[in-house]
Amino acid sequence: MNQQKFWNEKFSREDYLYGTNPNDFLVSCENNFKKAHRFLCLGEGEGRNAIYFAKIGFEVTAMDASDVGLKKLERLAKVENVQVKTRCIDLNEWEPKKKYGSIISSYLHMYKKDRKKLFDKIESCLKEKGFFIGEFFSKNQLNYSSGGPKDLDLLYSVDDFLNAFPNCTKHKVEEVEIELDEGKSHQGKASVIRVIIQKN
Ligand SMILES: C[S@@+](CC[C@H](N)C(=O)[O-])C[C@H]1O[C@@H](n2cnc3c(N)ncnc32)[C@H](O)[C@@H]1O
Repeated sequence: MNQQKFWNEKFSREDYLYGTNPNDFLVSCENNFKKAHRFLCLGEGEGRNAIYFAKIGFEVTAMDASDVGLKKLERLAKVENVQVKTRCIDLNEWEPKKKYGSIISSYLHMYKKDRKKLFDKIESCLKEKGFFIGEFFSKNQLNYSSGGPKDLDLLYSVDDFLNAFPNCTKHKVEEVEIELDEGKSHQGKASVIRVIIQKN
């Protein structure tokens, strides 16, 4: 099953799978982002982060493979009276044309074989001194039942990030145990990798 079909089925429900509040770690990093710069959310799904950052004044674009997820994002943006540009695309097909000062992602489950190419694209479209910040399930998440894929190829290791982004400074690449409380689908103890990566 391709990503679009898989996620369209998951998002075909009235409520928001991961809630409508933004991811805590991304919010805690917001001082790294500059309002004057373009802000990109990768694998943004139903839009909880995109809406939050648009609400506090960023010019936000959200990309995702799921048109169903992005429609829910657009619906919420209307309710919240904010603008978010959406683009329905498989990130394996994405060819970045613009530069971004800020790129975020939460729980983007990319296959291991596709990651290097995506990370290279993220690095190439980051502005000088721009930030890529994200939170991802680690391989140790297999020991928990708080959400996420049960396929090792969709889970991350610290080395996935340390071995990529050659033209960036890695301020934080760490595996931590956290308590998740994000909608119905992310609840309980979890093992995640948090990254704060800045283009040189
Ligand atoms: C676990 S959900 C997380 C959604 C959102 N980031 C959040 O935290 O609420 C994973 C998202 O990544 C998207 N995704 C997975 N693989 C993708 C790909 N290859 N291209 C674009 N989007 C993808 C899915 O459509 C889904 O919206």
